[in-house]
Amino acid sequence: MIFVTGGAGFIGSNFVLNWLKEETNSIINLDKLIYSGNLLNLKSLKNNPLHIFVQGDIQDRALIRKLLNQYKPQAIVHFAAETHVDRSIYDPTPFIQTNVIGTLHLLQETLDYWKNLNEHSKNHFRFLHVSTDEVYGSLRQQDEPFKETSRYAPNSPYSASKAASDHLVRAFHNTYGLPTLITHCSNNYGPFQFPEKLVPLMIINATQGKILPIYGDGLNIRNWLYVNEHYEALCLVLSKGKPGEHYNIGSETEITNMDLVHTICSILDDLKPNSPYVPHASLIQFIKDRPGHDRRYSIDCSKMRQELGWKPKENFKANFHKTIEWYLNNMTWVEKVMSGEYRKWIQLHYKETS
Ligand code: NAD
Ligand code: TYD
Repeated sequence: MIFVTGGAGFIGSNFVLNWLKEETNSIINLDKLIYSGNLLNLKSLKNNPLHIFVQGDIQDRALIRKLLNQYKPQAIVHFAAETHVDRSIYDPTPFIQTNVIGTLHLLQETLDYWKNLNEHSKNHFRFLHVSTDEVYGSLRQQDEPFKETSRYAPNSPYSASKAASDHLVRAFHNTYGLPTLITHCSNNYGPFQFPEKLVPLMIINATQGKILPIYGDGLNIRNWLYVNEHYEALCLVLSKGKPGEHYNIGSETEITNMDLVHTICSILDDLKPNSPYVPHASLIQFIKDRPGHDRRYSIDCSKMRQELGWKPKENFKANFHKTIEWYLNNMTWVEKVMSGEYRKWIQLHYKETS
């Protein structure tokens, strides 16, 4: 049994779905179901006895204690978080509450649980904290990619809250010996991503003839990894990673936002040649930049390659194609997700342009 937090969100649900396809180990999935968490993502597991879903908050220590003692997991994979940089700029408070306090409470309960395990279980137990490359801050064009030894320099309230949670995880390893692992992954894309993030936002807006809002000059660079590749990397870290270590996970696909949006538009032009919005790129509009907008992320994954034998398989075009087709074929999911809360956010954030 493994204990997953945030398993109804984008990366968490892809993790749970992949895990239950491959593994015989069951999953207890704790998720508060905030706006980005969605049980529709897990619909295919409805009658699967290996998946136990519990709606609850990682800040709720009594609930975590009860679940740990009841299900006795051999690992925790911690995804639950507030994750959208733009929202963190409007209001950092929930980011501190969930990402920092929530992670602390999860660590405290995990430590109590872990201390009472027998020696064998204690040695094999792992707490995998899913963090981000954004804790390292921003790179200039001439800078080397982020390594695990890069200095922490978070720029947004989101990345600052993730950095704080990383430090707590590190402290629980160094102070109490809890066998923790921390991963820093780059931007993910794939099915089930909440459409406030760049990729699904652009796909959905383009199919509906809405503007494609690009912040600033559109030359910010991100490193993109297909979500299933992230899953494979996480499984390896969980089974072979060394307690106390950090692992960077990413791809070699570094692309400006502008080029990425053009790629999405040209794939849509091919997939929907009769759409009234062809060429979709004509919907692109530049809007006000995000404050503190990180210029470039780039990941050095040589530690993952050398120590764990992982490297991204990299088929950017094919994976993007697959991702776009998924959104086009899952319009019911899209419509349900674009409910009241989503509309409120879009109106608040893009009010001058929508
Ligand atoms: P997401 O926003 O899609 O999902 C987050 C999930 O956490 C949701 O299901 C939500 O309901 C749940 N949640 C939020 N607050 C909670 C709380 N207090 N208690 C319990 N559950 C709660 O996020 P995602 O994109 O799937 O990201 C998952 C993790 O991966 C995060 O920790 C994020 O920092 C990290 N990460 C994301 C990316 C990316 O590109 N999306 C890249 C690197 C790392
Ligand atoms: P996002 O998906 O929010 O991920 P992150 O900020 O964590 O990297 O944004 C990816 C990039 O796209 C980032 O440089 C900001 C940019 N962006 C836009 O240009 N327009 C948008 O409407 C959004 C949501 C993001």
